[in-house]
Amino acid sequence: MLFRELNRGKCKTYLIACEESHRAVLVDPIREKVDRYLAFLSYHTLKLEAVIDTHTHADHRTAGFELKELTGAKVIMHRKAPAPHVDLHVEDGESIPIGLAQLQVIYTPGHTPDSISLYTGGRVCTGDNLLIRGTGRCDFAGGDPGEQFDSITRKLFVLPDETLVFPAHDYRGNSHSTIGEERRLNPRITGRTRGEYVDLMNNLGLPLPDKIQEVLQPNQSALDDDRLRFPSLAELNQVRQLTPDP
Ligand SMILES: [Fe+2]
Repeated sequence: MLFRELNRGKCKTYLIACEESHRAVLVDPIREKVDRYLAFLSYHTLKLEAVIDTHTHADHRTAGFELKELTGAKVIMHRKAPAPHVDLHVEDGESIPIGLAQLQVIYTPGHTPDSISLYTGGRVCTGDNLLIRGTGRCDFAGGDPGEQFDSITRKLFVLPDETLVFPAHDYRGNSHSTIGEERRLNPRITGRTRGEYVDLMNNLGLPLPDKIQEVLQPNQSALDDDRLRFPSLAELNQVRQLTPDP
């Protein structure tokens, strides 16, 4: 099996491919890097079978629309994903074939209600729930810290200790971790009760992602047109200041 992270940035996209059959999937591809993904697939003579978004992203535009249009790949997300362009909705415990290999879907809500993790060959892609020494925020887009605690402790921490963890984001230059390390050393989870975790996550006080208006609406809908431009938070605030209260 070929397993590669393709973005080399804070936002991660994983290519998983069966080398015998030359079939591949991309997990969480971002719109700005479509050319790079197509070049990689072409160079390695891989056929893109599917694009899987681990959840509805609020910080970047998904490449699912473009890659589906350009390659005919299926777009796969959890049943609760709101986007109408999804070809296949999956549930907990389902398997997604990649040539001779299988990707197992683990439903891990919390960061969003449509969050899934994907397990194959001793590796798990954890989306934005379990990060390396951290966890993804769950204070918008239907997030729920209690569900997130349950997903991490009951669905992910029960995997073998040596399972390699590949999150959708990392802000400290890490490439991967293991389930055993995160169970012992994750500062958000280790030693906390569910209630303590919920309190912590409800009081992080993080600002909203910069491009949330531009990103969330197209990712949740069929709209995918550069001519459609959504105002930034700063622009919305400016409009509010200029508009007198009724
Ligand atoms: Fe996210």
